[in-house]
Amino acid sequence: MIDKINSLRNEVSQVVVSSPEELETFRIKYLAKKGVLTALMEDFRSVPAEQKRELGQKLNELKNFVSERYATLKETLQATETVDVSKYDLTRTATPFPVGSRHPISIVKNDILRIFSDMGFTVAEGPEIEDDWHVFSSLNFPADHPARDMQDTFFIGRNPVDVLLRTHTSSVQTRVMEKNQPPIRIVCPGRVYRNEAISARAHCFFHQIEGLYIDRNVSFADLRQVLLKFAQQMFGAATKIRLRPSYFPFTEPSAEMDISCDICGGTGCPFCKETGWVEILGCGMVDPNVLKACGIDPEVYSGYAFGLGIERITNLKYKVKDLRMFSENDVRFLAEFESAR
Ligand code: DAH
Repeated sequence: MIDKINSLRNEVSQVVVSSPEELETFRIKYLAKKGVLTALMEDFRSVPAEQKRELGQKLNELKNFVSERYATLKETLQATETVDVSKYDLTRTATPFPVGSRHPISIVKNDILRIFSDMGFTVAEGPEIEDDWHVFSSLNFPADHPARDMQDTFFIGRNPVDVLLRTHTSSVQTRVMEKNQPPIRIVCPGRVYRNEAISARAHCFFHQIEGLYIDRNVSFADLRQVLLKFAQQMFGAATKIRLRPSYFPFTEPSAEMDISCDICGGTGCPFCKETGWVEILGCGMVDPNVLKACGIDPEVYSGYAFGLGIERITNLKYKVKDLRMFSENDVRFLAEFESAR
């Protein structure tokens, strides 16, 4: 009997099945009421009493082994079973699931970068945690300029006071000019920080894009033309621009640029305070002092720079009234922008 048990165990361990029918055959042969195991149990009755203990144990082990083998074969068969596609409706529309949408600031940033990249500008980026030199000193800020005040700038730590959060992306100008000689033609997107109370119209962080072009014989007319093209591509071919004299430490002469009001088309409305114009950026010819500070010879090279706020452009394009919406990340607000395009 012990031989029978051993050879059965051997036999069962070698069985493989490749269809549900073969699996059923296995079950009937070994495990069913009239199967091999039941027959063995019958034989067991006539075993002499002194062998019963040992053989009973072996027999039990065999029974467990066969059941386990059956379970394994069943599992492997299910895993390798090929899917019968005729059971499924493959033309049914898939269940829709929500995919995120791009943030409006990113959408507008990408639009702006694309327009300038078509005009030959490349993208440059710099750190948000900066030092006084890159944010102020290299850009010709006088020592007592109010922007250097704690009230406007976030300083990190007291000692050294030199570490601060950049208040504008103009700092990237310096970083690029220090390492490269002209021609330089870059746009620098990024987040900037100012110590402002948060309200519908102001926030302690926002986003800017800085532009810089340095080469031989760059003139104010070049600046004006590039900005006109930008305004028309961003707000439509009928858009007009107007440059008003202004002051920035790092440009001379400096100007602020207005575009004809996108809402009333220039006839005057509450949005443009009845003037027909809205301001969108600051610009000017790079001050020779800035070129010198960055190791570029102002006798040989000249250039222009401009800086715009992405939130401002986004507000104009999409009429967002409250700046805080941009950082609250309400998905209902965010989802409106992909579909608005
Ligand atoms: N940095 C200025 C700001 O944050 C914006 C700006 C104005 C940048 C004039 C320029 C520029 O490059 O020429 O308000």
